[in-house]
Amino acid sequence: MKGLILSGGRGTRLRPLTYTRAKQLIPVANKPILFYGIEAIVRCGITEIGIVVGDTKDEVKATVGDGEKLGCKITYIEQDEPRGLAHAVLVSEQFLKNDRFVMYLGDNVIKDGIDSLVNEFRTNKPNSQILLAHVSNPSQFGVAELEGDRIVKLEEKPKNPRSDLAIVGVYMFDENVFKAVHSIKPSWRNEYEITDAISWLIDNGYSVVSHIIKGWWKDTGKADDLLEANRIMLELLERNVKGKIDPTCRIDGKVVIEEGAKISGSVIRGPVIIGANAEIVNSYIGPFTSIGPGAKVTNSEVEHSILLDECEMTDLNCRLTDSLIGKQARIMRTKGLPHVNRFILGDQSEAELL
Ligand code: G1P
Repeated sequence: MKGLILSGGRGTRLRPLTYTRAKQLIPVANKPILFYGIEAIVRCGITEIGIVVGDTKDEVKATVGDGEKLGCKITYIEQDEPRGLAHAVLVSEQFLKNDRFVMYLGDNVIKDGIDSLVNEFRTNKPNSQILLAHVSNPSQFGVAELEGDRIVKLEEKPKNPRSDLAIVGVYMFDENVFKAVHSIKPSWRNEYEITDAISWLIDNGYSVVSHIIKGWWKDTGKADDLLEANRIMLELLERNVKGKIDPTCRIDGKVVIEEGAKISGSVIRGPVIIGANAEIVNSYIGPFTSIGPGAKVTNSEVEHSILLDECEMTDLNCRLTDSLIGKQARIMRTKGLPHVNRFILGDQSEAELL
């Protein structure tokens, strides 16, 4: 079997962070989201993986490389325009040839992995296997209607969903999917939808089986989704404290502190990860926080947040919570008079004041 990971798209709902980086490279627990997908596929014993890339291809290539450090061989496949998930399959035909494959959307995170599901697909050999999950907001996904185990209908982002079963962004196919993607027409949003390709398989008598997954899954399309994914993934970490920590500090619970980090006069309450060469001075870092490499937090309190590489928080007079702070961004307390709030925010940034 082969793996196919989709890492194109524009990530408009995650602006401004996605002005400067691919949405799949935003870190969750200090690891790019895309790596969770690659690792999940490698864990199934699949080592030949194609990554479909678009505008952000240079950055994705620079971050993932040839795959050696992740235990696989990566082939990059270019998609000229984000014209839909089925179009991504179409442009990957040469790479996939006649192999069965698992397709993984690069912004999805599945806590329990996909090994058992892929094994089932290998053993039972249906033409396709999809994963479903109960959600509270089905109209934001592809939605399946089932009768017993049988899929009766699949609809992409329906206004009036027939069930609460969302299609998870992990799909398994054999070579018959190419007949489907060659046959379908673009949808109302002008995309070649994978949902339509799967419906085509069902309508033309191919076997498509579905699985309802019970564990945690997220399509990390928005800031709140990233914070939730960060929360879940931080809890899976094993405590591992390196770096230089002065004896006045208190480090409680699941905490990872990477090589070269310096912590002084601070309380760190896990689950927390602090990246290489970050510096925490006289500060409180509370649960569910990821501090990127080289970031600096001084005389401040931070919790339930993601701080990217080299950002700086200095002398904050209230706790920073539920926040996503981009690379090298700086928040500091105004010195002197007048006592004002002053911002230099990039396009589509957001700031909430007390
Ligand atoms: C895509 C699929 C949708 C699926 C979702 C899962 O939506 O079109 O059917 O439920 O991924 O993440 P998109 O994220 O492209 O809007």
